[in-house]
Amino acid sequence: MHEPYRIKVVEPLPRVARRKRKDVLRAVAYNPFHIPAKYVTIDLVSDSGTGAMTARQWAAMIEAREDFAGQKSFEAFVERTQRLTGFPFIQPVHQGRSAENILFKLLLKPGDIVLANAHFETTRGNIEALHCRAVDLPSEHPPFLGNIDIDKLNEKMRELKRVKLVILTLTNNIKGGQPVSLKNIAQTRSIARKYNINLVLDASRFADNAYLIKEIEKSRMSVAAICKRMFRSADILYFSNKKDGLVNIGGCIGVRSRQLYDRLTYEVLRQEAYPTSGGLAARDVAAMTLGMEDAMNENFLRTHIGGIRYLAAILKENRVEVFEPVGGHAVAVIPKSGHRYFSFALASQVFLETGIRGGVFEEYYRLAVPRRVYTREQLRHVGESVSKAYSSDLPRLRLINRPREFFNFFARFTTV
Ligand SMILES: Cc1ncc(COP(=O)(O)O)c(C=O)c1O
Repeated sequence: MHEPYRIKVVEPLPRVARRKRKDVLRAVAYNPFHIPAKYVTIDLVSDSGTGAMTARQWAAMIEAREDFAGQKSFEAFVERTQRLTGFPFIQPVHQGRSAENILFKLLLKPGDIVLANAHFETTRGNIEALHCRAVDLPSEHPPFLGNIDIDKLNEKMRELKRVKLVILTLTNNIKGGQPVSLKNIAQTRSIARKYNINLVLDASRFADNAYLIKEIEKSRMSVAAICKRMFRSADILYFSNKKDGLVNIGGCIGVRSRQLYDRLTYEVLRQEAYPTSGGLAARDVAAMTLGMEDAMNENFLRTHIGGIRYLAAILKENRVEVFEPVGGHAVAVIPKSGHRYFSFALASQVFLETGIRGGVFEEYYRLAVPRRVYTREQLRHVGESVSKAYSSDLPRLRLINRPREFFNFFARFTTV
Protein backbone atom coordinates (compact mmCIF):
# COMPACT_ATOMS: atom_id res chain seq x y z
CA MET A 1 0.00 0.00 0.00
CA HIS A 2 1.46 3.34 -1.02
CA GLU A 3 1.09 6.62 0.85
CA PRO A 4 -2.38 8.19 0.25
CA TYR A 5 -0.99 11.67 -0.53
CA ARG A 6 1.56 13.37 -2.76
CA ILE A 7 4.18 15.88 -1.72
CA LYS A 8 3.50 19.55 -2.42
CA VAL A 9 6.26 21.36 -0.57
CA VAL A 10 9.75 20.06 0.17
CA GLU A 11 12.43 21.16 2.59
CA PRO A 12 16.11 20.40 1.88
CA LEU A 13 17.84 18.25 4.50
CA PRO A 14 20.75 19.94 6.31
CA ARG A 15 24.17 18.60 5.31
CA VAL A 16 26.75 18.95 8.06
CA ALA A 17 30.39 17.82 8.07
CA ARG A 18 31.24 14.91 10.39
CA ARG A 19 33.90 17.10 12.04
CA LYS A 20 31.22 19.63 12.97
CA ARG A 21 28.92 16.92 14.33
CA LYS A 22 31.77 15.71 16.52
CA ASP A 23 32.14 19.20 18.02
CA VAL A 24 28.38 19.50 18.46
CA LEU A 25 28.18 16.20 20.33
CA ARG A 26 30.88 17.28 22.74
CA ALA A 27 29.20 20.66 23.23
CA VAL A 28 25.83 19.06 24.06
CA ALA A 29 27.43 16.51 26.40
CA TYR A 30 26.26 13.51 24.35
CA ASN A 31 22.57 14.09 24.99
CA PRO A 32 20.64 13.97 21.68
CA PHE A 33 17.82 16.16 23.00
CA HIS A 34 20.27 19.07 23.26
CA ILE A 35 21.52 18.93 19.65
CA PRO A 36 20.43 22.07 17.75
CA ALA A 37 18.05 20.88 15.00
CA LYS A 38 19.99 22.76 12.33
CA TYR A 39 22.69 20.08 12.60
CA VAL A 40 20.26 17.17 12.29
CA THR A 41 19.79 15.56 8.87
CA ILE A 42 16.93 13.17 9.67
CA ASP A 43 15.15 13.82 12.94
CA LEU A 44 13.44 10.90 14.68
CA VAL A 45 13.77 12.22 18.22
CA SER A 46 9.99 12.59 18.49
CA ASP A 47 6.76 12.16 16.55
CA SER A 48 5.24 14.99 18.59
CA GLY A 49 4.41 18.21 16.76
CA THR A 50 6.74 17.21 13.95
CA GLY A 51 4.24 15.94 11.35
CA ALA A 52 3.40 17.58 8.00
CA MET A 53 -0.01 19.18 7.59
CA THR A 54 -2.25 18.98 4.53
CA ALA A 55 -2.92 21.79 2.05
CA ARG A 56 -6.46 21.90 3.51
CA GLN A 57 -5.08 22.50 7.00
CA TRP A 58 -2.80 25.31 5.78
CA ALA A 59 -5.70 26.87 3.86
CA ALA A 60 -7.91 26.68 6.96
CA MET A 61 -5.18 28.41 8.95
CA ILE A 62 -5.12 31.32 6.52
CA GLU A 63 -8.90 31.54 6.54
CA ALA A 64 -9.26 31.45 10.33
CA ARG A 65 -10.27 34.74 11.94
CA GLU A 66 -8.34 35.84 15.00
CA ASP A 67 -10.67 37.12 17.73
CA PHE A 68 -10.28 37.34 21.47
CA ALA A 69 -13.44 35.42 22.34
CA GLY A 70 -16.13 33.31 20.65
CA GLN A 71 -13.85 32.32 17.76
CA LYS A 72 -15.51 30.52 14.85
CA SER A 73 -12.70 27.96 14.77
CA PHE A 74 -13.42 27.10 18.43
CA GLU A 75 -17.05 26.29 17.60
CA ALA A 76 -16.04 24.08 14.68
CA PHE A 77 -13.40 22.26 16.76
CA VAL A 78 -15.73 21.63 19.67
CA GLU A 79 -18.49 20.39 17.39
CA ARG A 80 -16.15 18.03 15.50
CA THR A 81 -14.52 16.69 18.65
CA GLN A 82 -17.87 16.16 20.36
CA ARG A 83 -18.95 14.05 17.39
CA LEU A 84 -15.70 12.10 17.32
CA THR A 85 -15.55 11.37 21.05
CA GLY A 86 -19.18 11.45 22.18
CA PHE A 87 -18.10 13.82 24.99
CA PRO A 88 -20.45 16.77 25.64
CA PHE A 89 -17.83 19.25 26.89
CA ILE A 90 -14.59 19.94 25.02
CA GLN A 91 -11.93 22.43 26.05
CA PRO A 92 -8.91 23.19 23.83
CA VAL A 93 -5.56 23.80 25.53
CA HIS A 94 -2.18 24.55 24.06
CA GLN A 95 -0.74 21.02 24.40
CA GLY A 96 -1.01 17.73 26.26
CA ARG A 97 0.96 18.64 29.35
CA SER A 98 -1.14 21.73 30.01
CA ALA A 99 -4.22 19.46 29.89
CA GLU A 100 -2.49 17.29 32.51
CA ASN A 101 -1.53 20.23 34.65
CA ILE A 102 -5.02 21.75 34.61
CA LEU A 103 -6.89 18.50 35.16
CA PHE A 104 -4.69 17.19 37.95
CA LYS A 105 -4.81 20.51 39.79
CA LEU A 106 -8.59 20.23 39.79
CA LEU A 107 -8.83 16.53 40.60
CA LEU A 108 -5.98 15.72 42.98
CA LYS A 109 -4.97 16.65 46.51
CA PRO A 110 -1.53 16.08 48.09
CA GLY A 111 -1.13 12.42 49.07
CA ASP A 112 -3.52 11.10 46.40
CA ILE A 113 -2.47 8.15 44.25
CA VAL A 114 -2.92 7.70 40.51
CA LEU A 115 -2.74 4.25 38.91
CA ALA A 116 -2.02 3.78 35.21
CA ASN A 117 -0.92 1.30 32.55
CA ALA A 118 2.09 3.64 32.37
CA HIS A 119 2.45 7.34 32.98
CA PHE A 120 4.24 9.33 30.31
CA GLU A 121 7.02 11.50 31.79
CA THR A 122 5.00 14.72 31.77
CA THR A 123 1.97 12.93 33.22
CA ARG A 124 4.06 11.63 36.10
CA GLY A 125 5.79 15.02 36.44
CA ASN A 126 2.48 16.86 36.77
CA ILE A 127 1.14 14.35 39.32
CA GLU A 128 4.30 14.41 41.44
CA ALA A 129 4.44 18.20 41.33
CA LEU A 130 1.18 18.12 43.33
CA HIS A 131 2.81 15.81 45.93
CA CYS A 132 0.81 12.85 44.67
CA ARG A 133 2.05 9.37 43.70
CA ALA A 134 1.95 7.90 40.18
CA VAL A 135 2.03 4.07 40.08
CA ASP A 136 2.52 2.08 36.83
CA LEU A 137 0.81 -1.29 36.47
CA PRO A 138 1.75 -2.45 32.96
CA SER A 139 0.65 -5.82 31.65
CA GLU A 140 3.32 -8.18 30.34
CA HIS A 141 1.06 -10.11 27.96
CA PRO A 142 1.31 -9.57 24.20
CA PRO A 143 -0.21 -8.58 21.85
CA PHE A 144 -1.85 -5.83 23.96
CA LEU A 145 1.30 -4.80 25.80
CA GLY A 146 -0.22 -1.38 26.50
CA ASN A 147 -2.86 -2.92 28.80
CA ILE A 148 -3.03 -2.23 32.49
CA ASP A 149 -2.58 -5.42 34.57
CA ILE A 150 -6.13 -6.04 35.80
CA ASP A 151 -5.12 -8.32 38.70
CA LYS A 152 -2.64 -5.76 39.98
CA LEU A 153 -5.19 -3.00 39.53
CA ASN A 154 -7.72 -4.91 41.66
CA GLU A 155 -5.06 -5.60 44.25
CA LYS A 156 -3.92 -1.96 44.45
CA MET A 157 -7.49 -0.73 44.65
CA ARG A 158 -8.08 -2.99 47.66
CA GLU A 159 -4.78 -2.19 49.30
CA LEU A 160 -4.40 1.60 48.82
CA LYS A 161 -6.77 4.02 50.43
CA ARG A 162 -6.05 7.16 48.44
CA VAL A 163 -6.42 6.11 44.79
CA LYS A 164 -8.09 9.05 43.08
CA LEU A 165 -7.76 8.35 39.35
CA VAL A 166 -6.95 5.56 36.94
CA ILE A 167 -5.27 6.64 33.69
CA LEU A 168 -4.97 4.59 30.53
CA THR A 169 -2.43 5.98 28.08
CA LEU A 170 -3.43 5.07 24.50
CA THR A 171 -1.11 3.95 23.09
CA ASN A 172 1.49 3.44 25.77
CA ASN A 173 4.29 5.65 24.50
CA ILE A 174 7.44 4.33 26.11
CA LYS A 175 7.98 1.12 24.12
CA GLY A 176 7.07 2.71 20.82
CA GLY A 177 3.29 2.81 21.22
CA GLN A 178 1.84 -0.44 22.54
CA PRO A 179 -1.94 -0.78 22.20
CA VAL A 180 -4.59 -1.11 24.91
CA SER A 181 -7.50 -3.45 24.10
CA LEU A 182 -11.18 -2.54 24.23
CA LYS A 183 -11.68 -5.30 26.78
CA ASN A 184 -8.97 -3.86 29.03
CA ILE A 185 -10.52 -0.39 28.81
CA ALA A 186 -13.96 -1.82 29.70
CA GLN A 187 -12.58 -3.90 32.61
CA THR A 188 -10.70 -0.87 33.95
CA ARG A 189 -13.88 1.13 33.77
CA SER A 190 -15.83 -1.46 35.82
CA ILE A 191 -13.16 -1.43 38.51
CA ALA A 192 -13.06 2.38 38.57
CA ARG A 193 -16.87 2.40 38.83
CA LYS A 194 -16.84 -0.07 41.70
CA TYR A 195 -14.58 2.24 43.70
CA ASN A 196 -16.31 5.39 42.47
CA ILE A 197 -13.25 6.96 40.89
CA ASN A 198 -12.73 8.51 37.45
CA LEU A 199 -11.20 6.71 34.49
CA VAL A 200 -9.09 9.16 32.46
CA LEU A 201 -7.80 8.39 28.96
CA ASP A 202 -4.61 10.03 27.78
CA ALA A 203 -5.75 9.62 24.17
CA SER A 204 -2.85 11.35 22.43
CA ARG A 205 -2.37 8.35 20.10
CA PHE A 206 -6.00 7.34 19.89
CA ALA A 207 -5.99 6.55 16.15
CA ASP A 208 -2.92 4.29 16.35
CA ASN A 209 -4.55 2.48 19.27
CA ALA A 210 -7.80 1.95 17.36
CA TYR A 211 -5.95 0.84 14.22
CA LEU A 212 -3.90 -1.71 16.17
CA ILE A 213 -7.06 -3.03 17.89
CA LYS A 214 -8.70 -3.42 14.47
CA GLU A 215 -5.71 -5.28 13.12
CA ILE A 216 -5.07 -7.56 16.12
CA GLU A 217 -8.71 -8.45 16.64
CA LYS A 218 -9.43 -8.60 12.88
CA SER A 219 -12.36 -6.32 13.62
CA ARG A 220 -14.73 -5.22 10.89
CA MET A 221 -15.48 -1.98 12.73
CA SER A 222 -14.00 1.22 11.30
CA VAL A 223 -11.21 2.97 13.19
CA ALA A 224 -13.67 5.80 13.92
CA ALA A 225 -16.16 3.34 15.45
CA ILE A 226 -13.44 1.71 17.56
CA CYS A 227 -12.38 5.18 18.77
CA LYS A 228 -15.97 5.84 19.86
CA ARG A 229 -15.97 2.55 21.79
CA MET A 230 -12.69 3.45 23.49
CA PHE A 231 -13.96 6.87 24.49
CA ARG A 232 -17.34 5.54 25.66
CA SER A 233 -15.75 3.95 28.74
CA ALA A 234 -13.97 7.08 29.97
CA ASP A 235 -15.15 9.76 32.38
CA ILE A 236 -12.49 12.22 31.25
CA LEU A 237 -10.10 12.31 28.30
CA TYR A 238 -7.34 14.49 27.08
CA PHE A 239 -5.24 14.68 23.96
CA SER A 240 -1.96 16.08 22.90
CA ASN A 241 -3.10 16.81 19.32
CA LYS A 242 0.58 17.00 18.32
CA LYS A 243 0.63 13.24 17.80
CA ASP A 244 -2.28 11.48 16.08
CA GLY A 245 -4.12 14.83 15.89
CA LEU A 246 -1.74 15.78 13.06
CA VAL A 247 -0.90 19.33 14.09
CA ASN A 248 2.27 21.06 15.24
CA ILE A 249 0.68 22.51 18.39
CA GLY A 250 -2.53 21.91 20.32
CA GLY A 251 -4.33 19.74 22.82
CA CYS A 252 -7.75 19.37 24.39
CA ILE A 253 -9.73 17.99 27.32
CA GLY A 254 -13.10 16.25 27.23
CA VAL A 255 -15.35 15.91 30.28
CA ARG A 256 -18.89 14.68 30.89
CA SER A 257 -19.72 16.76 33.96
CA ARG A 258 -20.98 20.33 33.52
CA GLN A 259 -19.65 21.23 36.94
CA LEU A 260 -16.14 20.01 36.14
CA TYR A 261 -16.25 21.76 32.79
CA ASP A 262 -17.07 25.07 34.50
CA ARG A 263 -14.14 24.65 36.89
CA LEU A 264 -11.96 23.77 33.92
CA THR A 265 -12.81 26.99 32.13
CA TYR A 266 -11.81 29.06 35.17
CA GLU A 267 -8.49 27.24 35.33
CA VAL A 268 -7.94 27.66 31.59
CA LEU A 269 -8.64 31.36 31.89
CA ARG A 270 -6.17 31.60 34.75
CA GLN A 271 -3.27 29.82 33.06
CA GLU A 272 -3.86 29.47 29.30
CA ALA A 273 -6.04 32.19 27.82
CA TYR A 274 -9.69 33.03 27.27
CA PRO A 275 -11.39 29.59 27.18
CA THR A 276 -12.51 29.80 23.54
CA SER A 277 -8.87 30.08 22.48
CA GLY A 278 -7.38 27.63 24.98
CA GLY A 279 -3.98 29.28 24.66
CA LEU A 280 -3.89 28.82 20.88
CA ALA A 281 -4.29 31.11 17.91
CA ALA A 282 -7.59 30.55 16.09
CA ARG A 283 -5.59 29.29 13.11
CA ASP A 284 -4.08 26.49 15.21
CA VAL A 285 -7.54 25.46 16.39
CA ALA A 286 -8.72 25.42 12.75
CA ALA A 287 -5.86 23.08 11.82
CA MET A 288 -6.74 20.85 14.80
CA THR A 289 -10.32 20.44 13.58
CA LEU A 290 -9.17 18.95 10.29
CA GLY A 291 -6.35 16.98 11.89
CA MET A 292 -8.80 15.14 14.13
CA GLU A 293 -10.65 13.92 11.06
CA ASP A 294 -7.56 13.06 8.98
CA ALA A 295 -6.17 11.11 11.96
CA MET A 296 -8.62 8.28 11.38
CA ASN A 297 -7.93 7.81 7.67
CA GLU A 298 -7.18 4.10 7.58
CA ASN A 299 -4.98 4.23 4.47
CA PHE A 300 -2.85 6.84 6.17
CA LEU A 301 -2.61 4.80 9.39
CA ARG A 302 -1.72 1.67 7.41
CA THR A 303 1.16 3.39 5.62
CA HIS A 304 2.39 5.25 8.70
CA ILE A 305 2.46 2.17 10.90
CA GLY A 306 3.73 0.19 7.88
CA GLY A 307 6.70 2.60 7.68
CA ILE A 308 7.57 1.93 11.31
CA ARG A 309 7.42 -1.83 10.73
CA TYR A 310 9.56 -1.43 7.61
CA LEU A 311 12.22 0.36 9.66
CA ALA A 312 12.04 -2.34 12.36
CA ALA A 313 12.37 -5.08 9.73
CA ILE A 314 15.60 -3.55 8.36
CA LEU A 315 17.02 -3.31 11.86
CA LYS A 316 16.10 -6.91 12.63
CA GLU A 317 17.57 -8.16 9.35
CA ASN A 318 20.83 -6.63 10.57
CA ARG A 319 20.53 -8.30 13.98
CA VAL A 320 19.60 -5.17 15.90
CA GLU A 321 17.38 -6.22 18.79
CA VAL A 322 14.16 -4.19 18.84
CA PHE A 323 11.21 -4.28 21.21
CA GLU A 324 8.46 -6.51 19.82
CA PRO A 325 5.69 -6.39 18.87
CA VAL A 326 6.63 -3.13 17.18
CA GLY A 327 4.32 -0.32 18.30
CA GLY A 328 2.40 2.41 16.53
CA HIS A 329 4.72 5.39 16.28
CA ALA A 330 8.31 4.33 16.96
CA VAL A 331 10.87 1.56 17.05
CA ALA A 332 12.58 0.98 20.39
CA VAL A 333 16.09 -0.52 20.20
CA ILE A 334 16.92 -2.74 23.18
CA PRO A 335 20.29 -1.90 24.76
CA LYS A 336 23.09 -4.48 24.62
CA SER A 337 23.84 -5.75 28.10
CA GLY A 338 27.05 -4.77 29.83
CA HIS A 339 27.32 -1.33 28.23
CA ARG A 340 26.47 1.53 30.60
CA TYR A 341 24.35 4.29 28.97
CA PHE A 342 24.18 2.19 25.80
CA SER A 343 21.28 4.14 24.27
CA PHE A 344 23.00 7.51 24.70
CA ALA A 345 26.17 6.02 23.22
CA LEU A 346 24.27 4.59 20.24
CA ALA A 347 22.40 7.89 19.73
CA SER A 348 25.76 9.71 19.74
CA GLN A 349 27.41 7.29 17.32
CA VAL A 350 24.47 7.35 14.86
CA PHE A 351 24.43 11.14 14.93
CA LEU A 352 28.20 11.40 14.54
CA GLU A 353 28.31 9.14 11.49
CA THR A 354 25.10 10.16 9.71
CA GLY A 355 23.39 13.20 11.25
CA ILE A 356 20.36 11.05 12.14
CA ARG A 357 18.90 11.82 15.56
CA GLY A 358 16.97 9.34 17.70
CA GLY A 359 15.87 9.85 21.32
CA VAL A 360 16.36 7.98 24.58
CA PHE A 361 13.24 6.87 26.46
CA GLU A 362 13.63 4.82 29.59
CA GLU A 363 16.55 2.58 28.64
CA TYR A 364 15.69 2.37 24.94
CA TYR A 365 17.12 4.15 21.90
CA ARG A 366 13.88 5.25 20.26
CA LEU A 367 13.31 6.14 16.62
CA ALA A 368 9.97 7.97 16.48
CA VAL A 369 8.67 8.61 12.98
CA PRO A 370 7.04 12.01 12.28
CA ARG A 371 3.81 11.62 10.33
CA ARG A 372 3.82 12.28 6.56
CA VAL A 373 7.41 13.60 6.65
CA TYR A 374 9.99 10.98 5.64
CA THR A 375 9.92 8.58 2.67
CA ARG A 376 10.51 4.84 2.80
CA GLU A 377 13.90 5.40 1.14
CA GLN A 378 14.87 7.70 4.02
CA LEU A 379 13.66 5.14 6.55
CA ARG A 380 15.72 2.47 4.79
CA HIS A 381 18.76 4.75 5.13
CA VAL A 382 17.99 5.17 8.84
CA GLY A 383 17.65 1.40 9.31
CA GLU A 384 20.98 0.71 7.63
CA SER A 385 22.80 3.53 9.40
CA VAL A 386 21.56 2.56 12.86
CA SER A 387 22.45 -1.09 12.16
CA LYS A 388 25.98 -0.12 11.22
CA ALA A 389 26.46 1.99 14.35
CA TYR A 390 24.90 -0.74 16.53
CA SER A 391 27.52 -3.27 15.44
CA SER A 392 30.43 -0.81 15.77
CA ASP A 393 32.49 0.12 18.83
CA LEU A 394 30.40 2.69 20.67
CA PRO A 395 31.87 5.49 22.78
CA ARG A 396 32.02 4.79 26.52
CA LEU A 397 30.16 7.52 28.39
CA ARG A 398 30.53 8.80 31.93
CA LEU A 399 27.75 10.74 33.61
CA ILE A 400 28.81 14.25 34.63
CA ASN A 401 25.41 15.65 35.58
CA ARG A 402 22.58 13.68 37.16
CA PRO A 403 19.46 15.83 36.99
CA ARG A 404 16.95 15.76 39.85
CA GLU A 405 14.15 14.85 37.41
CA PHE A 406 13.67 13.95 33.73
CA PHE A 407 16.98 12.08 33.52
CA ASN A 408 16.91 11.37 29.78
CA PHE A 409 16.17 14.97 28.84
CA PHE A 410 18.78 16.61 31.04
CA ALA A 411 21.57 14.07 31.72
CA ARG A 412 25.02 15.17 30.56
CA PHE A 413 27.99 12.93 29.75
CA THR A 414 31.60 12.97 28.77
CA THR A 415 33.52 10.26 26.94
CA VAL A 416 35.84 7.98 28.91
C1 LIG B 1 1.39 9.75 25.98
C2 LIG B 1 1.69 11.21 26.10
N1 LIG B 1 0.97 11.97 26.93
C3 LIG B 1 1.19 13.29 27.08
C4 LIG B 1 2.20 13.90 26.36
C5 LIG B 1 2.44 15.39 26.54
O1 LIG B 1 1.94 16.07 25.42
P1 LIG B 1 2.58 17.45 24.89
O2 LIG B 1 3.92 17.11 24.34
O3 LIG B 1 1.61 17.92 23.85
O4 LIG B 1 2.65 18.37 26.04
C6 LIG B 1 2.99 13.15 25.50
C7 LIG B 1 4.08 13.79 24.75
O5 LIG B 1 4.91 13.19 24.11
C8 LIG B 1 2.73 11.77 25.35
O6 LIG B 1 3.44 11.00 24.52
